[in-house]
Amino acid sequence: MLDAVPMTVPARTPRTELSAFRQTASTLVAAMTLEEKASLCSGRDFWTTKAIERLGLGSIFLTDGPHGVRKAEGTDFTNSAPATCFPTASALACSWDVELAAEVGAALGQEAQALGVQILLGPGVNMKRSPLCGRNFEYFSEDPRLSGRLAAAHVRGVQSQGVGACLKHFAANNQEFERTTTNSSVDERTLHEIYLTAFEIAVREAAPWTVMCAYNKLNGTFASEHRELLHGVLKERWGFEGLVVSDWGAVQDRVAGVLAGLHLEMPSSLGQNDRRIVLAVQSGALPEARLDELVTELVSVTLCALGRRKPASSYDAKAHHALAKRVAGESLVLLQNQHCLPLDPKRPLRVALLGQFAKAPRYQGAGSSQVKPTQLSDVYSALMALTDGVWQTSYAPGYLPDGSTTDALLDDAARKAKAADVALVFAGLPDSYESEGFDRKNLSLPEGHDRLIQAVAGAQPEVAVVLMNGSAVAMPWASRVKAILEAWLAGQAGGEAIADALVGRLNPSGKLSETFPARLEDTPAFLDFPGQAGEARYGERCFIGYRSYDQRGIAPLFPFGHGLSYTTFAHSGLLLEPASASEAERGVLYTATVTVKNTGSRPGKEVVQLYVGEQNSRLLRPPKELRHFAKVALEAGQSRQVRFELVARDFSYYDARLHDWVIDSGVFQILVGGSSRGALLSETIKLKAERAYPPLTRESMLKEFAEHPQTKASYRPLLERLIALFSGTTDGATETPEQRKAREMAEAFLSELPVWKLPLLSQGKFTEAELERWLEQAGVTAS
Ligand code: BGC
Repeated sequence: MLDAVPMTVPARTPRTELSAFRQTASTLVAAMTLEEKASLCSGRDFWTTKAIERLGLGSIFLTDGPHGVRKAEGTDFTNSAPATCFPTASALACSWDVELAAEVGAALGQEAQALGVQILLGPGVNMKRSPLCGRNFEYFSEDPRLSGRLAAAHVRGVQSQGVGACLKHFAANNQEFERTTTNSSVDERTLHEIYLTAFEIAVREAAPWTVMCAYNKLNGTFASEHRELLHGVLKERWGFEGLVVSDWGAVQDRVAGVLAGLHLEMPSSLGQNDRRIVLAVQSGALPEARLDELVTELVSVTLCALGRRKPASSYDAKAHHALAKRVAGESLVLLQNQHCLPLDPKRPLRVALLGQFAKAPRYQGAGSSQVKPTQLSDVYSALMALTDGVWQTSYAPGYLPDGSTTDALLDDAARKAKAADVALVFAGLPDSYESEGFDRKNLSLPEGHDRLIQAVAGAQPEVAVVLMNGSAVAMPWASRVKAILEAWLAGQAGGEAIADALVGRLNPSGKLSETFPARLEDTPAFLDFPGQAGEARYGERCFIGYRSYDQRGIAPLFPFGHGLSYTTFAHSGLLLEPASASEAERGVLYTATVTVKNTGSRPGKEVVQLYVGEQNSRLLRPPKELRHFAKVALEAGQSRQVRFELVARDFSYYDARLHDWVIDSGVFQILVGGSSRGALLSETIKLKAERAYPPLTRESMLKEFAEHPQTKASYRPLLERLIALFSGTTDGATETPEQRKAREMAEAFLSELPVWKLPLLSQGKFTEAELERWLEQAGVTAS
């Protein structure tokens, strides 16, 4: 057992490169007129900020988005400049590869520089609360740690190139239904443990230059006017030094936004909100000092961004395509494989390629993140190139672009499947099923895709399904096919990566970053998603994703963290050790070491996942929560040790009564393995923590006085007196069983009462004056 660990989790405030520009910004702001300052609080047009030429302050260009640079002119989004289209966040997250996310970020940063963009609007770190959110393809995970670490790496990568990243959408923006008006009703603990954590990790670890506030309301207040969120949490708690930009059109009351901490409104409000800011200062409703503070922070970002421009830069489009292919490959999740894949490219196999997505892939999400790729690969051509005439292939489209099908299309596909040795079916979600701007209606694939798979499975026993979709889907045919490869929205090079995996040139190593439910009814937010009457109630609280399936004992179709390989891995020797003195200085409490071995016959990669769960916790907590992970490459037969450092936050939960993170003394289970379910290694740690207590008041219940260090000692005589009054008995050696029972019941009854009610419920036998005296003696002053 360790010495008591500090009860709250220390906050580190990052020092950002922005602070170097603060002084110059402040001098510039001092030279500005009120109108000039107000003018900087909104954009010049759809994508740029205003300049102040007389002071030499330039304008900056902001554009989407997380998976590629979409530099469009004005509102003609279809006509953006070509840029590399990387796999979307839901794919990248399944790589569980933090350094890869940083590489993607750096490549995006280079492309942004080459295209003259100073702020890239991404990454999106909203949690996947329901698989039905239409924009889940743009978000990483249902787990805040995984999302946060990938987002931090993405930000680090983008900003390493002198381009600002923009964490979005802050906060609790987890659905598209009524996305600009809905009120996300989230309790404080859930907000901090689930919905803010990914933002927090990215802000603390990578100091993004900008954060985008969400469209929605949070607990009754629009995010764009939410002072507690934009100032209290983001700035004061986490030390954010950058600027907050509105989501496009998210501003309601601009003056309230300035007071709350919203620096920049986008796009332009055509001058009307600038005028409102000026009037508010003139009328005294908005202190000019507040405006100055905000504009100084905004100008610091502008100066930093302009200072880091690389006007004559370019990027290597071929190298970025190769990176996009590598990312797509690392993100592939082999969900199921009964000795079907990989297929030997050197054997003269008869292979039926079925489904339009083989030739016309779905490879990116619809909406603001849509880019015009520099080139585009498809699986069909990639497989033809790899097998070079060795395979005898056939092709059938199987379904129509809208997802429907006909008997003729199905018959054609089934016939070709039957005549082959193996059938590869390509299915997924078309744009019209999954997009920014609206939610999905259900978990199903289009009917035509499901029917195609069923028809092929009826004609051919060797079937592998390749899926292209941005979020979890239902698979009513799963038990009828041999293999399922989840390829996600794999970006412009996805076709090549999928082909490599199908023929075993690449060994899939992705793991699910979201649970695949067996039924929509099993999903955690089933009753409350997407809400009604303007209210999205987060009734499942912190039990989202695997936290919920674990707690309710529900078996998903495929669990969080799951993913197979063409080789096998074994985890062994989990060892937990108290931190050394130097580790402890860095805040480490324990280290966990585990050995992972490639027990198969091919090189491969395993994602080692470490979960922590508190046993018999004081407040209800998820049975286990992901705290650490590492992706390890291993040759056949090779072993490696992986070491994780466990810090206070890994054991803590957010106590809404203390408004802070706390750890309780207790026993914690450490679980390590290659998935959130299945054979996990398990050890326990006993922690002793200094418990923190909310201040006692007249509203505190009697039981709180019993455990509070301040009143623990003085409480007993009071309790005895009350028990006597309420049960009509006294504590004594000659107590009868009935009397003891009456005393116990009185104690239980009294414990649950706030103390101010005691005089009332004792009908004056315990007087108000007595209570006051006792509270005073106990040092309870506040009421
Ligand atoms: C989206 C943002 C995007 C912005 C600019 C909004 O509709 O929600 O994610 O960055 O448009 O395109």
